[in-house]
Amino acid sequence: MSVPLVFASLLNADFSCLEKEIYYLEKAGVDGFHIDIMDGHFVSQLSMGPEIVRTVRRLTERPITAHLMISPVRQHLQTFAQAGANAIIIHAETETQLGENLSLVRHLGCRVGLALNPCTAPEKAMPYIHDIDEILVMSVNPGIGGQSFQGAQLKKIRALHQERIKQEREISLTVDGGITPETLKQCIEMGADTCVVGQFLMRYVSEDRPQAISALKTAGKSHDTC
Ligand code: DX5
Ligand code: ZN
Repeated sequence: MSVPLVFASLLNADFSCLEKEIYYLEKAGVDGFHIDIMDGHFVSQLSMGPEIVRTVRRLTERPITAHLMISPVRQHLQTFAQAGANAIIIHAETETQLGENLSLVRHLGCRVGLALNPCTAPEKAMPYIHDIDEILVMSVNPGIGGQSFQGAQLKKIRALHQERIKQEREISLTVDGGITPETLKQCIEMGADTCVVGQFLMRYVSEDRPQAISALKTAGKSHDTC
């Protein structure tokens, strides 16, 4: 069983000492950083903008994913690519032209990600699997960190895992929301290979984060994906 990639969500980071947060998260062993961008329209919350991506870019060499909870999204894609995002994830629920927006992310030189809200069926992603590098399965409703994992998303992860095998696509299958070692183990059993973690990591003081990461990294060790 491969070890899952762990991306730290900065939504609930202490922005008064972002450099220290990034330093200790890197030291703890995160594989990258996940930045949740919210526009107050696609989701009712507002969070942060491209300047945070630009700042984090200066603080780390690790991959940065911009999770754009924005609609309409097209006019913002170049800004996040230029700010230094390695991957841009857009939502399947945004306005039309989804295919064109995914192609634009590719044209901008970023990894292409497609996010599915809990209420969106896996079939929505299937026509795009040959065009993308990552599927982000939301295991909470987007907008807030610290929510409980929605177990109903496990069968969606399984369906998407089977589809990527069928289409022979080596895309990342990422789960985002309410991730702990316990919920991650269930997701890995369904085929997930990457996770986004917010509160489970952030509630530890910096010095204890290595053990939190290690608990996540070993979550799937005891199981093979069936
Ligand atoms: C929610 C965000 C998630 C969230 C994850 O809208 O997309 O990335 O920050 O945080 P936790 O792990 O606390 O659910
Ligand atoms: Zn996110």
